[in-house]
Amino acid sequence: MSTPDSAVQDREFGLAHANAALKRSLDLLANESDLDGFLGRVLCDIGSRLDAPHILMWLMDGKSGTAVPRLAWSEACGPGSADDLLAPDTMDAMLAVVERLDPGELPAVHATMLHLPLLIGDDHLGGISALLAQTGQPSVAEIAWVQALAHQATLALRLDFLSTEREAAAVLKERARIAREIHDGIAQTLIGINRHLHGALAHTDCPAVASAIELAKDGLAEARRTMKALGPHQLSNMTFLDAVQEVARKVIPQQIEFLLSSTGTWPALPPERESNLFRVVQEAFNNVAKHSSATRLNLEVSSAPGEVSILIQDNGCGFDVRGGATGVGLANMRHRMDAIDGFFQLVSAPGSGTQVLIRLACA
Ligand SMILES: Nc1ncnc2c1ncn2[C@@H]1O[C@H](COP(=O)(O)OP(=O)(O)O)[C@@H](O)[C@H]1O
Ligand SMILES: [Mg+2]
Repeated sequence: MSTPDSAVQDREFGLAHANAALKRSLDLLANESDLDGFLGRVLCDIGSRLDAPHILMWLMDGKSGTAVPRLAWSEACGPGSADDLLAPDTMDAMLAVVERLDPGELPAVHATMLHLPLLIGDDHLGGISALLAQTGQPSVAEIAWVQALAHQATLALRLDFLSTEREAAAVLKERARIAREIHDGIAQTLIGINRHLHGALAHTDCPAVASAIELAKDGLAEARRTMKALGPHQLSNMTFLDAVQEVARKVIPQQIEFLLSSTGTWPALPPERESNLFRVVQEAFNNVAKHSSATRLNLEVSSAPGEVSILIQDNGCGFDVRGGATGVGLANMRHRMDAIDGFFQLVSAPGSGTQVLIRLACA
């Protein structure tokens, strides 16, 4: 049994090494452009420190609530895919344990495995589970050290996610800009040409004028097709309502009853405005699937002359909106609605579900 003095020394040792491990992996994070390369090095450091022959990094799938293997490491082969490095029995056994873990009680040793959480705030991304070689438990110092490394892996995963999101947002913005250019430039010019040709047709029966009208019409149809294709993928070949229903099918788990009501006729909106509305609904669905534990989700889409409004309402756990819920998703929803001069309202309270209301004036 350790004496109080040796316990303090053990802790100090742990902190000093956790700090060194943090610095080393931060340096690595700054220089390693490949996410998997970085995660592989983290697993390798954890494996070496714990003398663990096998490590599995897994991520939580928000939709199904199951653990999905992300990367593995073995003493013999280094980093690689879980299927290649872990025997199916071992992997099944590890996944069966990790799905029952309470993230609030991690890190923890269960039988011969040490489980480290990958947590950002309350968001449980997944974990790292190490199969320990010896039966003796790792010391507090060792756990502090490897948990520090797990935090770095979490940071790398989140940075990667944010940069992918930013890239996707930049692509969308550029596509919307090109669509606007086509709308205001080529399409308007073709409409003008068409009008003039129709005027000319009143004074001549020259067949070339009739052919030119046909060509201008084709050109305009082509420009409209291109504008549509430049919108978000889901909206390029289906209506807004179909697109949100498709997202609901993909994102909302089966145990949540999804109820859709729609009134009025959805108007033709400029692609950028429609795509922003679509992304806000998509993120609201993601949040319901990820955070709400709801049993029911209502989507009300109302189109009235001059305005569309969308209400997304769940009967889940709700949250304190003043309590510093500072996720990127909610901030993005507000920014998107601001960008198109729309209205955004979030109403939620613990135990009372969550309601997102967006409104947009349209011509
Ligand atoms: N429908 C919801 N039900 C319960 N909590 C929610 C809901 N929407 C958002 N939240 C809370 O607000 C936080 C911030 O959400 P968000 O900005 O989208 O970030 P993220 O989804 O990445 O956590 C969530 O972590 C969650 O605590
Ligand atoms: Mg979110």
